[in-house]
Amino acid sequence: MPNSTHTAHPRFLPYVQPSPNALSPYADHVAAVLNQNCNLWHLSPAANVVEQSLLRWFADLFGLPRSTGGIVTSGGSMANLVALTAARDHALGRSAQAEGLQTGGTPLVLYTSEEVHSSIDKAVSILGLGTNNLRRVPTDERFRLRLDALAAAVAADRAAGRRPFCVVASAGTVTTGAIDPITELAMFCREEALWLHVDGAYGALAALSERFREPMSVIGLADSVSLDPHKFLFCAFEAGCVLVRDRQHLVNAFSAQPSYLTMSEDPDFIDFANHGPQLSRAFKALKVWWSLKHFGADAFASTIERMHDLALHMGSEIARRAAFELLAPVVFNCVCFRVRALDDAGNRRVLKSLVDGGDAFLGPAVVKGRSGLRACFMNLRTERSDVNFILDRLLEFTGD
Ligand SMILES: Cc1ncc(COP(=O)(O)O)c(C=O)c1O
Repeated sequence: MPNSTHTAHPRFLPYVQPSPNALSPYADHVAAVLNQNCNLWHLSPAANVVEQSLLRWFADLFGLPRSTGGIVTSGGSMANLVALTAARDHALGRSAQAEGLQTGGTPLVLYTSEEVHSSIDKAVSILGLGTNNLRRVPTDERFRLRLDALAAAVAADRAAGRRPFCVVASAGTVTTGAIDPITELAMFCREEALWLHVDGAYGALAALSERFREPMSVIGLADSVSLDPHKFLFCAFEAGCVLVRDRQHLVNAFSAQPSYLTMSEDPDFIDFANHGPQLSRAFKALKVWWSLKHFGADAFASTIERMHDLALHMGSEIARRAAFELLAPVVFNCVCFRVRALDDAGNRRVLKSLVDGGDAFLGPAVVKGRSGLRACFMNLRTERSDVNFILDRLLEFTGD
């Protein structure tokens, strides 16, 4: 304990990292005792049904069709990697598994916004696509991917003989929580025959709340979606998930049938080893399914709203106090701001002073090139008084 990061502290507010709900660490313990291997259904029949019903529940949340397949992953990064593998192999067609990218064909190009999470860079690199073929399209004044700039970039690549194949939209960008224009992007991708992946690791599950249902429900227009139960379902690490509109794309990318594994096919079960890169897999779905069953979706909806309210409260306190400046509008559960009297280096320094003094742990934010602080409300213990405490303390550091 002494040298562990105290993530349960009410003023632990960096990154996108919640305190876990009380049930999920216990569920992980039960899963470890059961010791199911969730790769082949006959090694984990009950777990298989739990994972399938969880995936169906998520697919229904976004109106995805019956053809949808998916898998519970370690987190959003792995979910993005799985989805982009399916997208790449779909673009390469029948030669994908046998030839890979070794045939020297036309370079594949992927488009996303300049606000995208680094897991997309990693996936592009791991998949051999090359980050030089990742286009970071500029965003508008609300940090959303600009469709006109996307259309121009796709046209320029086609004219230069390259092959656009995929657009990654964000449902909750990692710094400011912006939601890209998903409906318009889905229409554009359909016209241009591009795969649309939505990285909803941060925000997709906010669809549970009435406040965010409208912008999030259109996520179901995509070809694939990532979401992270270890964020807005407050599950203990690790629990991510990916859904792919046509399950066959997952199977094409990941299936392998070695002679040393006995597979007994049954239409009621899925061999999840054929939906992702892992063979041995823990029963991560249990804590997610059990959390939803135990607390109910409404409990998560109201918690997400409470987190949003805390961000709105901080936003209005910052707007009221002349010493601070908001770096981005508050649209979600995070607040990016800056101490006016300090330069970029000074703003980075106060972040460290807050941690060193044991007062609060906030994250760094760089918004349109300017450095500041970021508070992300995902902690079940945080109150408004904690927000006021942090702002008062920051004023003391700056001598105001
Ligand atoms: C938008 C977005 N995508 C992907 C990820 C990566 O998720 P994970 O940390 O679960 O791998 C994050 C993490 O914060 C995120 O905010």
